[in-house]
Amino acid sequence: MKSSIVGLAAVLQLAVHASAQDGQSSPSDLENYWSYGHSESVPDTPVAKGLGDWADAYNKARKLVSQMTDEEKNNITYGHASTTTGCSGVTGSVPRLDFPGICFQDAGNGVRGVDMVNSYPAGIHTGASWNRDLAHSRAEHMGAEFRRKGANVALGPVVGPAGRIASGGRNWEGFGSDPYLSGALAAESVRGLQQNVIACVKHLIGNEQETNRNSPYLLEGSHNQSISSNIDDKTIHELYLWGFQDVVRAGAGSVMCSYNRINNSYGCQNSKVMNGLLKGELGFQGFVVSDWTGQHTGIASANAGMDVAMPDSQYWENNTLAIATKNGSMPDFRLDDMATRIIASWYKYAEIPNPGHGIPVSLLEPHDLVDARDPKSKNVILQSAVEGHVLVKNTAGALPLQKPKFLSLFGYDAIPSALNTADDSSLGGWSMGLQNALTYPNGSAVNNETEKYMFLSSTDPSFRGPGVAFNGTLFAGGGSGASTPAYIDAPLHAFQRQAYDDDTYLAWDLISLEPHVNPASDACLVFINEASSEGWDRPYLADPSSDKLVRNVAAKCPNTIVVIHNAGLRLVDEWIENPNITAVLYAHVPGQDSGRALVEVMYGKQSPSGRLPYTVARKESDYKELLEPVIPSGTQNEYYPQDNFTEGVYIDYKAFIQNEIQPRFEFGYGLTYSNFSYLDLDASVHSNANLQYTAAGSGAKIVEGGSEALWDIVASVNCTIQNTGKVRAAEVAQLYVGIPGGPPKVLRGFEKRTIDSGKKEHIQFDLTRRDLSHWDVEKQAWGLQAGKYPIYVGKSVLDIQLHGMLDIS
Ligand code: BGC
Repeated sequence: MKSSIVGLAAVLQLAVHASAQDGQSSPSDLENYWSYGHSESVPDTPVAKGLGDWADAYNKARKLVSQMTDEEKNNITYGHASTTTGCSGVTGSVPRLDFPGICFQDAGNGVRGVDMVNSYPAGIHTGASWNRDLAHSRAEHMGAEFRRKGANVALGPVVGPAGRIASGGRNWEGFGSDPYLSGALAAESVRGLQQNVIACVKHLIGNEQETNRNSPYLLEGSHNQSISSNIDDKTIHELYLWGFQDVVRAGAGSVMCSYNRINNSYGCQNSKVMNGLLKGELGFQGFVVSDWTGQHTGIASANAGMDVAMPDSQYWENNTLAIATKNGSMPDFRLDDMATRIIASWYKYAEIPNPGHGIPVSLLEPHDLVDARDPKSKNVILQSAVEGHVLVKNTAGALPLQKPKFLSLFGYDAIPSALNTADDSSLGGWSMGLQNALTYPNGSAVNNETEKYMFLSSTDPSFRGPGVAFNGTLFAGGGSGASTPAYIDAPLHAFQRQAYDDDTYLAWDLISLEPHVNPASDACLVFINEASSEGWDRPYLADPSSDKLVRNVAAKCPNTIVVIHNAGLRLVDEWIENPNITAVLYAHVPGQDSGRALVEVMYGKQSPSGRLPYTVARKESDYKELLEPVIPSGTQNEYYPQDNFTEGVYIDYKAFIQNEIQPRFEFGYGLTYSNFSYLDLDASVHSNANLQYTAAGSGAKIVEGGSEALWDIVASVNCTIQNTGKVRAAEVAQLYVGIPGGPPKVLRGFEKRTIDSGKKEHIQFDLTRRDLSHWDVEKQAWGLQAGKYPIYVGKSVLDIQLHGMLDIS
């Protein structure tokens, strides 16, 4: 591997900054500090040229910025306290030139913390749908809601975390644990959102754990710096940057730099990541905004490529950038580029005259009701909720339900939470929805609880968030990815409606962990959840009390069906082989249409069509070192905690295959009510699949997303799938490839098709040069290698139906 050139100045600056700040550096800290590769310095920030369809926006932006004083340019680069809107953050404005500033608002699953909006299925739910079109329309409707509320930037989607740590607290905000799947769905989400607003793809990069994500600037009582995600160059390219590459190609208008350090340099001052990878190699045309209070240095963060500091800036206020430009400590083209990137994105996607007008400072004060909902979104919200359900067990024809005479319902997750705190009500006291808890009077109980947990986590670095929401159905996760439902259609509501139609008798006990079971029950449905929130990693992958409830019901009921609302992967080995448990559904995080969607699937109005976007192990230890976050131990590591990503690209299914561990349910797995067969594989290499390397700095044409040649189609795989079962259903055909020198199988294509019983469909997977290339560290380029590339098409990563080979020479 090429040794990285250490940017001595940047590193020393960071070291000095760190020691001045905590005053406790010792030789052993510094030894530890130097123990892993250090982030290379890339001093020159690429100036955005207005590539591709950005040309018009850049022409207009340059014109506007040329009329601004340096102080005005400086003023729009950081957040200001607003007395008129409750946006997550707002930039300064230039009233003289009619630039009203920019309102940033959370997040990727709906507009957070306001009234009159919808709660959409979360990222993981959308990932489980494996449906590009639906991801697009979900985002388009969501983006329209942001715009109607006056938000210019929607703070999503999430491609980092990439799902490296099984218990990671924010994995549910992203689309799953494979970069190809998550990149494809994130790109569609960006295209959808940007019909109306600027998307902000986060968090760049290596933001894989919540534990110790922040330095003592945020967490009182802890002295350590943020966790350093130490990632080698090949792994960055082939795994963690992959999704960012897809969204840049899709035209992303902004990207959020992360709280963590990357190879010991903070995400928001890491010149290799922002100048080098994002703006240089990927040709990013938008602006980079800090994660909230993620800025740790002044001019250096601007020179490293950060364009906007949020939600305020102790470093860039008082005209510091204007002064730095005048005295030569920052090149003036940098300040111009910062302002131009911001204004160009605004012109291109979100020129909104009255930013934040529908987002009141407090929902408790009188405010106009700005209804952001559009009846046209209803189908999309429901269908996105339906398609994220994954059926993993179905024996003895347990599902679909057919006009049962007597159904028994159990479990705390079947009903909505009693506290309507708008934000995070699904998580009750375990969420970080402080600001929203404060906006509703009946949220005060939540607020107390939240403070309790914040206190615990700030003093105990090993504290992990609670892993279950006992107080109601889990329709959203907690923290900034939470959304505010117009209503919660809980499972109990939806089953009541269906019972009315079918004349079913419903019996329920939704409180006891050891309920009585009426032996006349046709089926017993148990609703449990596995919760998760920003701010904490999860304490376990299966909550023991919920497991106990499932076992207790199954002991008394021979037809027990389990529904799990899971914000992250959830183990089931405590009971999955119990013959009385006849069906199991991962219902993920479905948003406000939870119950309605569940009935759609469980009663067979639609065949289940979700597939797992992660691997479910048999036991926690099967995830090996990828189970838990790194926890600062109180030793020297406490000051500069390190997480070496030594597994490279081998996370999730790639790790299971490499370690020869049989999972309980593999990546890509999911049942339907039908059957599909796969026929007629044909794999061919196109004549343009030469062995050239596409080095970023070697004259290759850079478009958004990187070197243009990376996007050539160089091979195609064709096959036919046939619905051989009795009902109309959707199949997700998956293409895996073995790239020489890499994991035996990596996902490189997926196609979801709904097909009538007996019918066939032809499927074509097109493979780009990037899809088949590896990242060559010596050449600093993507390239095809001569050799044989095994091809696998199937129903999951382990259920391969067709084998082929691509021969590249
Ligand atoms: C989160 C971001 C979020 C921001 C604004 C941060 O704590 O990490 O994802 O967008 O806050 O709320």
